[in-house]
Amino acid sequence: MSANKKKLFDFVGNSEQTYQSFPELGQISGARDCAQRIRMFDPVDFAGKSVLDLGCNLGGMLFEAGRLGATRLTGVEFEPALIERAEALNDRHRAGIRFICADIEDIFATDVLDERYDTILLLAVLYTSPFRDRNKLLSEIAQRCDVLYIEGHNGQEFAWYFNLMEWNTDFTTFRMMGRSTDQARIDRPLMRLSR
Ligand SMILES: C[S@@+](CC[C@H](N)C(=O)[O-])C[C@H]1O[C@@H](n2cnc3c(N)ncnc32)[C@H](O)[C@@H]1O
Repeated sequence: MSANKKKLFDFVGNSEQTYQSFPELGQISGARDCAQRIRMFDPVDFAGKSVLDLGCNLGGMLFEAGRLGATRLTGVEFEPALIERAEALNDRHRAGIRFICADIEDIFATDVLDERYDTILLLAVLYTSPFRDRNKLLSEIAQRCDVLYIEGHNGQEFAWYFNLMEWNTDFTTFRMMGRSTDQARIDRPLMRLSR
């Protein structure tokens, strides 16, 4: 391991389990393999597109979006330690991702985000936090993008999200992309919403 990589590994990896794995760092084992997961998405939503990832963790899906040609990449995450690590990976890869440390439920009332994004990702986030008003959050997100990807949680059905999106957004097309899995074999529904 080179000195630089060692330094990054010490900082990004430590000895703890991370939610997202970064295979190129070897020793970091995580539950979610973003390189594998991105294959479930439509590449057309990334090539030349602006992408906002809400609850981005270490930014793994943004690094993958960048590899597919996304031009403007932004990640929002409310855990400062994760943002710090994401920034270290960003610097190392010169990925040009903009990371923002904020609560996704508060951020739409500020002016830190762009007015619109081509593609927004909301992956395995919606039921991880005690959000004040999930319906309002979904409605605000929908107003800011052309395409929204939502990944649900362990064992949830597509129908639940279909109803949630129908009530709270003006998306007209609901595409079931399949069920994503991870190292623990937990499966989650992945959906693409558009108009
Ligand atoms: C289960 S992980 C999913 C991470 C990533 N979206 C993925 O699918 O690989 C949930 C992430 O959302 C973040 N998160 C949860 N609630 C949040 C909130 N209200 N604002 C910002 N980030 C949040 C957590 O810190 C965590 O990194």
